Amino acid sequence: DTSGYKAWLALHARADEAQRKREAARYDWLAACEQHDTIAAAVSELRNGIRSILGQELREIDPNRIEQGIVIGTFDGNERIRALCGDASEQLGAEGFAIRASEGLMAIGANTPSGVLYGVFHLLRLLALGELTENLSVMERPANGLRMINQWDNIDGSIERGYAGQSIFYANDAIAFQPERVRDYARLLASVGLNAIAINNVNVHRLESGFITEPLLSRIAELAAIFRVYGIRLYLSVNFASPIEVGGLPTADPLAQDVRLWWKERADDIYRAIPDFGGFLVKADSENRPGPFTYGRNHADGANMLAEALAPYGGLVIWRCFVYDCKQDWRDRTTDRARAAYDHFMPLDGTFHPNVLLQIKNGPMDFQVREPVSPLFGAMERTNQLIEFQITQEYTGQQRHLCYLVPQWKAVLDFETFACHEGAPVKRIVDGTVFGRPYGGFAAVSNIGCDENWTGHPLAQANLYGYGRLAWNPELSAETIAAEWAAQAIGPDPQAVDTICTMLLESLDIYESYTAPLGVGWMVNPEHHYGPNVDGYEYDKWGTYHFADRYGIGVDRTVASGTGYAGQYIGDNAKAFESLDRCPDELLLFFHHVPYTHKLQSGVTVIQHIYNTHFDGAERAGELARKWQSLRHLMPDGLYLAAEARLLEQAEHAKEWRDRINTYFYRKSGIADAWGRTIY
Ligand code: GCU
Repeated sequence: DTSGYKAWLALHARADEAQRKREAARYDWLAACEQHDTIAAAVSELRNGIRSILGQELREIDPNRIEQGIVIGTFDGNERIRALCGDASEQLGAEGFAIRASEGLMAIGANTPSGVLYGVFHLLRLLALGELTENLSVMERPANGLRMINQWDNIDGSIERGYAGQSIFYANDAIAFQPERVRDYARLLASVGLNAIAINNVNVHRLESGFITEPLLSRIAELAAIFRVYGIRLYLSVNFASPIEVGGLPTADPLAQDVRLWWKERADDIYRAIPDFGGFLVKADSENRPGPFTYGRNHADGANMLAEALAPYGGLVIWRCFVYDCKQDWRDRTTDRARAAYDHFMPLDGTFHPNVLLQIKNGPMDFQVREPVSPLFGAMERTNQLIEFQITQEYTGQQRHLCYLVPQWKAVLDFETFACHEGAPVKRIVDGTVFGRPYGGFAAVSNIGCDENWTGHPLAQANLYGYGRLAWNPELSAETIAAEWAAQAIGPDPQAVDTICTMLLESLDIYESYTAPLGVGWMVNPEHHYGPNVDGYEYDKWGTYHFADRYGIGVDRTVASGTGYAGQYIGDNAKAFESLDRCPDELLLFFHHVPYTHKLQSGVTVIQHIYNTHFDGAERAGELARKWQSLRHLMPDGLYLAAEARLLEQAEHAKEWRDRINTYFYRKSGIADAWGRTIY
């Protein structure tokens, strides 16, 4: 396969013949005695993997007789596993695994079949990367309980903010899928440790509202069955007004008895069809979606009602905090969209049922290339939280530009909130440890569609891969993840891996350089959000302004003279963002309105920074394409050409960005570039 369909499960054959022979000699037997779909899936992954990488066929053997080879299973289901690594059991939790190898016998053990599957994928990764050592001893467990993907797929087959073709789940107003394709998606997700999927768009339209009732529920159950084998629980996005739209009730008031009963009956039906159903994902009172506000109730009333219906089955309610006034008057400078999530949800801390999680976007606005971290992380001490990232590149080049997002996510996860003395980075809040929360984790908007290579831009696969790896272990570095992805997806050639890693790692900085400067965001074309348009959202209702005039630019969000947003942070974060001198350059225009001649900490003025970064960014975008072209001889055609076309488009489009932004600010400010470069 040269199209990229197998993605990071390509499992390239070992090139080094001596190493291949040595490794192959160790693995010709396999023992796995449990009758379980997930263990069977793990066996099949192992078989494939050993065959592709080592050219070796695994033969099956009784676990008690195996002397040389691989034995896999759970501690309860397999005595041999218990003997070889059962001592690790206590430390592994439900999803962790242990791998032990010595003298040609390797054991992969876990408490559950999913743990075994993760162990097998880990082994294959080591094998593919050539990192398998003779006396291996590994123990891993995921940092986060919930490691979720959100599909923004619609039943008509379209995908909201999807840039890689149509849905693999739906077409023409029907649930329509190829089981093989869905299974391969489940394999990709499980291979990086993801364990939950919300299978439809958070904007739940008319037909999708019916997913929770027959006849569609049975079809959803078929999807759940495919994912179940790979340890992935299925969730549904639900319409808060379902009791009206599906149930024919006159109201969806969360405190009305008949509404509560209606949801309970739906939960009964759903769990009959899908016994391990994960729960509901809800976008309510947000961007014109219905919600509890209609009835004078708050978000906790709404979430708790659903939580009560799901609680008997262990189901979860994931309630999104992306709530703001989307009909703002652009003349009104007192309303600040950035404040909205905190203002709505902070007063409700401690009022949500134990099976409710709040899903909070990484930043206060909407997945811009640069935003501060949402101040809700660290503020809400008595509420379960999930962080929401966007893998699909809505505002970061739409999978036509290269933008490896892992460094952005790492910066968010490492952000110190000052929520407690011992240190409270975002990653320790969402995993539940800082405040001792029972549930927590990651959610992210998927970037795949029915394109042959899943993500359109082949290199955009690295974002999906990286998301899963980080959800499992936020300590992994962006460099490690990039190198792992490149070696597995493209092949182990060191020149290719090095070059691709360099491209991936510099891509976010390059993209930020030629687009919206210094944290201001939003200089895009309305609606589709692709390409430069400085005033595209300036006189609009969405609350997304830069306030550029002839003197200066930026949004004053200080407590002293602005919207007060900076005051939503804790301790020194609030002080640093408030202060013109201490605010990090890259967020300056998010927090402050300054003259173009304001000197940044870097020593250059704001206007000169805009010119410098835009000239530089466009130049570097061109270099990305040239770097890829230097790998021509190492690449299969399909993969090479798909990426080359996009990198060339990016190089051209980056010039358009450069010239639009530079020209706009030159004309606004009347200040020339210090280096006399061409501005139109
Ligand atoms: C963004 C995006 C919408 C999406 C929304 C959400 O605003 O443009 O398409 O529905 O986020 O996260 O709900």
